[in-house]
Amino acid sequence: MSERRPVWLTDADRTSYEPLSRSRIADALVVGAGITGLTSALLLAREGLEVVVLEAAGVGSGTTGGTTGKVTSQHGLIYRDMIERHGEPVARAYAQANQQAVELIESLVRDTDARCDHTRASALVFALDSGQMGDLEAEHAAASRLGLPSGLIDQPTDLPFQIAGALEFTDQAHFHPVRYCDALARELISLGGHVHEQSRIIGLAEHGDRVEVHAASGGSVTAGHAIVATLLPFIDRGGFFAKTRPGRAYGIAARLRSAPPAGMYIGAGPPVRSFRPWPDGGDTGIIFVGESHETGDEEKANPGRWGELERWAREHFDVDTFDYRWSAQDYSTADGLPYVGRSPLTDRTLVATGFHKWGLSNGTAAARIMTDLVLGVSNPFAESFEAGRIGDARAVKKIISDNAKVARMFVGDRVERLSPRPLADLRPGEGALVRADGSGTVAAYRAPSGEIQAVSATCTHLGCTVHWNDAENSWDCQCHGSRFGRDGQVLSGPAAEPLETVDLDGGSA
Ligand SMILES: Cc1cc2nc3c(=O)[nH]c(=O)nc-3n(C[C@H](O)[C@H](O)[C@H](O)COP(=O)(O)OP(=O)(O)OC[C@H]3O[C@@H](n4cnc5c(N)ncnc54)[C@H](O)[C@@H]3O)c2cc1C
Ligand code: FES
Repeated sequence: MSERRPVWLTDADRTSYEPLSRSRIADALVVGAGITGLTSALLLAREGLEVVVLEAAGVGSGTTGGTTGKVTSQHGLIYRDMIERHGEPVARAYAQANQQAVELIESLVRDTDARCDHTRASALVFALDSGQMGDLEAEHAAASRLGLPSGLIDQPTDLPFQIAGALEFTDQAHFHPVRYCDALARELISLGGHVHEQSRIIGLAEHGDRVEVHAASGGSVTAGHAIVATLLPFIDRGGFFAKTRPGRAYGIAARLRSAPPAGMYIGAGPPVRSFRPWPDGGDTGIIFVGESHETGDEEKANPGRWGELERWAREHFDVDTFDYRWSAQDYSTADGLPYVGRSPLTDRTLVATGFHKWGLSNGTAAARIMTDLVLGVSNPFAESFEAGRIGDARAVKKIISDNAKVARMFVGDRVERLSPRPLADLRPGEGALVRADGSGTVAAYRAPSGEIQAVSATCTHLGCTVHWNDAENSWDCQCHGSRFGRDGQVLSGPAAEPLETVDLDGGSA
């Protein structure tokens, strides 16, 4: 039976950092210690700025700690569509920003002496069906036009199953993302920077030429600039809640009975399956990722997602053991490009979000753009990623339909709350919206011991209803992707406050 935790968060000997408990003054503050925040912090510290990083949980414990760990400008089949939709200059900016991020990561691995198994490898999109070859050919033509290292190949020698062909980007990389983040944090501190874990930021305000943030742990920081690198900004001055959609995907780490392919593969799908070697698993380790769905989809968020991945892995590889299973979240944008730069209606607050599950390179590119904006240096890619944009007509249509869906969820969920299940029906290990005498509809979980843990069903972000995630035993909000533990504590934002505990004997505690 595999262990239920991200394969990248298993090291026992990691450094931990004190929560923020006092007032600090700095040149720049960064909220979020994932790859985007830590890269930003280090790039600024290298320019001589004093930087404070504030992290709600632990370094690398967000989506960076649940990624596949591919570092590549190949993000599935995107470039033909991007050229058609946004024009060649914008598509070139995206391609080159990401390809330069691949190189920046390698140089930071070298400079920080990061022991993160950074390995150069090809990234390949494979077609199982010859009917998909036309798409690969069109993508190859687009990627070549944009200056990416693209080529078409027939049957790669390292795959144990037959394919129709593959699109290869040479000289990309994979690594251990959390060990990389740990190295960035260490280097930041050696340059006079500071990192505080367990320090969730609950308020941000600009006062003239300063930005001030307050942490739930008690302290505050005042700085000349703020970079909000929290996957989705927790402040919404740019309509990011309306312009993005949260999605989850599932990962498993396994050992085969022989060596895995050396390349990093993703299927043209469906179903989309992504895999790469897993060096900590020895000579036969491999990681598989797939089974994406929208956050809060109660029908899909169950352990069957890992079951599907395992079934596919066994069908295509000679699997010996399954070792770890986990799930993670990222946000997509209405026009397919990340939002990066100055947050609208602010002067000194920068944001980065909407990486479409390709934020190791996109987040690194975003860090470069945001630090250039802080330093007043021109960046050739900044305009294409500009955070305040609404997008083209197609994006506007999508924003309208996504938000109509959120509104329907808001209303639909309220109706659903009128007909919750009786509490007595809840089986051990199950969570659901239930009817509780005196407390109305609550979100309740029955532990295997029979004990009930009940919390408010109303998301503390903007009031949508949370839904049970049976895969991860959490309460997830479909509206903007906030997630809460069984005890109501925030697992991931934009919500900053926990779900209220409900005492089923006597109403709200
Ligand atoms: C299953 C899956 C596989 C993926 N695989 C790949 C891949 O192979 N290659 C690739 O390029 N991309 C991949 N991605 C996407 C990539 O992992 C993410 O886009 C990237 O890690 C985002 O990094 P980040 O630093 O912006 O966010 P995160 O890593 O999520 O970091 C944000 C941090 O902010 C903290 N935070 C949040 N709110 C607050 C607050 N209020 N106060 C303080 N701190 C706060 C969080 O705790 C978190 O640590 C994948 C995504 C998924 C879901
Ligand atoms: S995440 Fe916005 S309402 Fe729940």
